[in-house]
Amino acid sequence: MERDLSNYRKSYEKGELLLESVPENPMELFQKWFYEVDHFFPDTEPNAMTLSTKGADGFPRSRIVLLKKYTYEGFIFFTNYNSGKGKSIGKDPRVCLSFFWNGAERQVIIKGNVEKIAENLSDGYFETRPRGSQLGAWISNQSEPIENKEILEEQLKQLESQYEGKEIPRPKHWGGYIVKPLEIEFWQGRPNRLHDRILYKLDKDFNWHISRLAP
Ligand SMILES: Cc1cc2nc3c(=O)[nH]c(=O)nc-3n(C[C@H](O)[C@H](O)[C@H](O)COP(=O)(O)O)c2cc1C
Repeated sequence: MERDLSNYRKSYEKGELLLESVPENPMELFQKWFYEVDHFFPDTEPNAMTLSTKGADGFPRSRIVLLKKYTYEGFIFFTNYNSGKGKSIGKDPRVCLSFFWNGAERQVIIKGNVEKIAENLSDGYFETRPRGSQLGAWISNQSEPIENKEILEEQLKQLESQYEGKEIPRPKHWGGYIVKPLEIEFWQGRPNRLHDRILYKLDKDFNWHISRLAP
């Protein structure tokens, strides 16, 4: 099988990123970009991001997770701590996050260290989830092989009756992680492939250094 995609070509013309006009703190630029993408392209799941981790086999592995909160400290997502990604993070907390915001012709790449958030913060978010998602967190041994999906549906029924009329507690193996950035690159597509790339790097005194990268 063969399919030639060499004529897939797009000119990027929607924005520009100038060194003179970027804020000192990259989280403020992230906030501006996220707000714009969320406002103009809300149906594109702008909070979906690619998380890359290094597995025990040495290979990187990427998957989508949803950004649930960001602050000056970093980027928070939720998952099963025993999942494939959870195990990889347990061995090596160095990760990469990336966003591709197609509509705005933008990409953001974040290099950082990831750590678990405080248990009470995971509890707080878990409480806001729909009951079905809460039960799902109990049932799914995320990333483990299963015989068939009927097993899951059977367990869901059992748990539904077990917790009928009761609050569902957060499983200890499910919670949040925060990625604390060391570097953030903002990429804005430009005509003639002369894209704008602005890189923020954190130094040992926690000051951000800003530079322009060649496209
Ligand atoms: C749009 C989208 C959103 C997702 N959000 C999450 C999420 O927030 N947390 C999560 O654990 N998995 C999420 N997933 C599933 C993951 O991509 C992945 O399949 C799962 O976490 C298992 O990955 P692992 O085996 O590498 O740990 C999402 C997938 C998609 C396509």
